[in-house]
Amino acid sequence: MNNKAFIFDLDGVIVDTAKYHFLAWKKIANQLGINFTEEHNELLKGVSRIRSLDIILELGKKEATQEEKNMWLKQKNEDYLSQLADMDDREILPGVFEVLKFLKDNNQPIALGSASKNARPILEKTGILSYFDAIVDGNDVTNAKPDPEVFLIAAKLLNVKPENAVVFEDSVAGIQAANIANMISIGIGDKTILHEAKYVFQDFTVISEQFLKEL
Ligand code: BG6
Ligand code: MG
Repeated sequence: MNNKAFIFDLDGVIVDTAKYHFLAWKKIANQLGINFTEEHNELLKGVSRIRSLDIILELGKKEATQEEKNMWLKQKNEDYLSQLADMDDREILPGVFEVLKFLKDNNQPIALGSASKNARPILEKTGILSYFDAIVDGNDVTNAKPDPEVFLIAAKLLNVKPENAVVFEDSVAGIQAANIANMISIGIGDKTILHEAKYVFQDFTVISEQFLKEL
């Protein structure tokens, strides 16, 4: 294999948690009388918790005090975490485990590059923590995607130059972050939404070992 490093986003790439984030935000939006659709939700993917709330408030043209914001942020996270209470490896998205195993068997360095502050417990619950040589999450960064900070730190920890790093992402903000970092961006999901990515695949089951070898 060519010497590359592989950086995975978490929510919507490794695990099927994007839907739980959406449902928890939708509850808050409904409470505030703000119309919040799946299309609006694309703006929140890859974005930090705090910024997500601000986007929802902007959509509804609502002002809020810091105290109110803190209350909704707490409520959103508690609601989200309650969905994860019984989480196990069944939440891993199709083909992900096979790709992680293939990369590991071929001694390719692997990192997590996620905006989530809940990343570690999710990797533990799903039993894949040991696949990661480095973990960079929402607790380690100050700038949210599309700022490339999270991926640049991950590449540094894996000791590779940005141009030799491959990023798997399901969000527009994340693809932009990878591109700004000068990394090889691979979108997981809809081609129309993720058109800025260098490559796009519907999911990991359609990524071949040959493709990974030739990157
Ligand atoms: C990203 C998700 O991975 O993490 C966003 O795509 C989420 O939807 C963000 O808001 C922050 O996650 P958390 O778990 O810290 O609220
Ligand atoms: Mg994501």
